[in-house]
Amino acid sequence: LALVALGVALLAATALPYVGFLALYAWVRPSGSPAAKRPSEPTVSVVLPTYNEARIVENKLRDLVALDYPMEKVEIVVVDSSTDETPDLVESFFADRDAPASTLIREGDRRGLARALNDGYAAAENEIIVKTDCDARLAPDALREAMANFADPAVDGVTGRNAEVLGGSEVETDYRGIQSHIQTLESHLDSTFIFHGPFSAFRREAVVPIDPGSLADDSELALRIRRNGGRVVFDPAVAYMEAAHSAFAKRRKQKDRRAMGLVRLLVQQRDALGRHGRYGRVVLPFNWLFMLVSPWLLATGLAALVLGAVTTAGVAGLALPAALLAFVAAGSRDVLGPFQPFYALFDAQVSLLSAAVRLPLTST
Ligand code: GDD
Repeated sequence: LALVALGVALLAATALPYVGFLALYAWVRPSGSPAAKRPSEPTVSVVLPTYNEARIVENKLRDLVALDYPMEKVEIVVVDSSTDETPDLVESFFADRDAPASTLIREGDRRGLARALNDGYAAAENEIIVKTDCDARLAPDALREAMANFADPAVDGVTGRNAEVLGGSEVETDYRGIQSHIQTLESHLDSTFIFHGPFSAFRREAVVPIDPGSLADDSELALRIRRNGGRVVFDPAVAYMEAAHSAFAKRRKQKDRRAMGLVRLLVQQRDALGRHGRYGRVVLPFNWLFMLVSPWLLATGLAALVLGAVTTAGVAGLALPAALLAFVAAGSRDVLGPFQPFYALFDAQVSLLSAAVRLPLTST
């Protein structure tokens, strides 16, 4: 019974960051971007890294040039390390076009995304740099909405909201909904921690090189910029659509890789805790609790609960782990109804736990 009580206590402690978050949310009542937004049309360099994207790169470029923004103010920098015909397709796409201006960097070998981005950012010449992934689609007004944030001189970085998860992953859709609330609150308190690959924008003069081995390049750049005194915010009006795998194994792999990148970043930059205003005093500690502490509480809590149930009630105690397994297996909205958001959070915690376990093996 003591084990069961311990399990319940640990599981209850897992909920603590969320309770704290909800209380803060009710107090701050954040909505939209915290920046003093004004219509503004700075010059923009869109940096697009590509690795074997021949199937989709032309569509991506077509979407970019169709954005609601004066294209004579836009430059597209493609950093390519493909072994397929992606760079040739890029070249012919821009061959007869006056605007936007284009630069194609052909990297001889694949040296990793972070290195490619460092090169792309160094080549970009305009006032604002936007980084976007090939498999993400931007809303037509995404650039316009994002640039309005940079009219606020305190803002050096802007990221956007995943308005639709392409590929039909319900869990990912629910998780992104929760994340959007968290990031809005973080931005109103000071700055947000996570920057999203489908759309991240930075003031060029604030950009610094990132760790070439980074697995969370966008968030790392945002964090470095915040450490240097700039504000980095989430604006839900900046919308994009990102492909997420709905097949279980592929989704797990994608989520696990991202979780690993973020966990590693938090650990590497731990000296920022407690510094840099509310960013280091509230936002980073919340992310530590959510990403590093609560996955362990969840794992040990579940283990204690299962062990306690089995030692107390014998075979009948197996009903509890069986119910938990059924919950995990039923990660679908039809079955879980209003409990689906809990599953989305649970799903995130599983990725974070697997990242934490592998962290010592992969730390640089
Ligand atoms: N030049 C170059 N070199 N481009 C690359 C490389 C590389 O080695 N690897 C990937 N890319 C390009 C892809 O072609 C795509 O346009 C973009 O980088 C993102 O690659 P994905 O493979 O789709 O990334 P992901 O979905 O696993 O990772 C997401 O999260 C990361 C962590 O925050 C993306 O949003 C990444 O951009 C982000 O860094």
